Amino acid sequence: MLYIIDDADIEKIRECVEFYPVDGVTTNPTIISKQHTDFSSLIRSIREIIGKERMLHIQTTSDTAEEIIKEAYALKEFVGGEFYIKIPISPEGLKATMYLSKNGINVTSTAIFTQQQALIAAKAGASFVAPYVNRLDNIASDGVKVVEEVVELFKLHNISAKVLAASFKTVEQIHKISLTGCHSITINPELYEKLIYHPLTLYAIDDFEKDWETVYGTNSILGLLNN
Ligand code: G3P
Repeated sequence: MLYIIDDADIEKIRECVEFYPVDGVTTNPTIISKQHTDFSSLIRSIREIIGKERMLHIQTTSDTAEEIIKEAYALKEFVGGEFYIKIPISPEGLKATMYLSKNGINVTSTAIFTQQQALIAAKAGASFVAPYVNRLDNIASDGVKVVEEVVELFKLHNISAKVLAASFKTVEQIHKISLTGCHSITINPELYEKLIYHPLTLYAIDDFEKDWETVYGTNSILGLLNN
């Protein structure tokens, strides 16, 4: 499963890339706006931090196919490397998706809430479809079930598009999504930290340190090997 960072905070992205396996970054207009900073230098900095090989998904802010297509070409040129234009699903978005996917630009179809939206986005040529798990849970729907069925539908119909589950609030949602065989998830850095946190792990590490010190004092393994 790919782990992608859903954030535009430069320092948080830098920290995630240093300490965690990260396959890319996704943004949307809300995430970008939270930074209150110059858009182009922000995008340039994200690309610098993650390098050219990791995916960078940036969302269009236009709502006509013609304008979306123009933005996609301009962003691809500016962003470089592994670039995906994120397009919210709509008739104009699908028109742009069909054009761009045939003309060398990768598309991530986003704001997916139903299984049929996902199927149609994939048929239009999207490389990724992004269902919103927590927002589905918030309307008493079932985000995990929607993702599970999209994964199943893609298998049944031999569709090459990947499912990029998005909008997470809990570790439980992520765990259940990983059991569906979903190809990738995008999560914020705080949630990524929670994925590896467990107090018993901290107790265990503490015990290892105390037991070692009881016998070897402050000597490290390297110090002892060099004796
Ligand atoms: O990438 C889409 C995702 O950011 C939406 O998440 O937390 O705003 O529901 P959220």
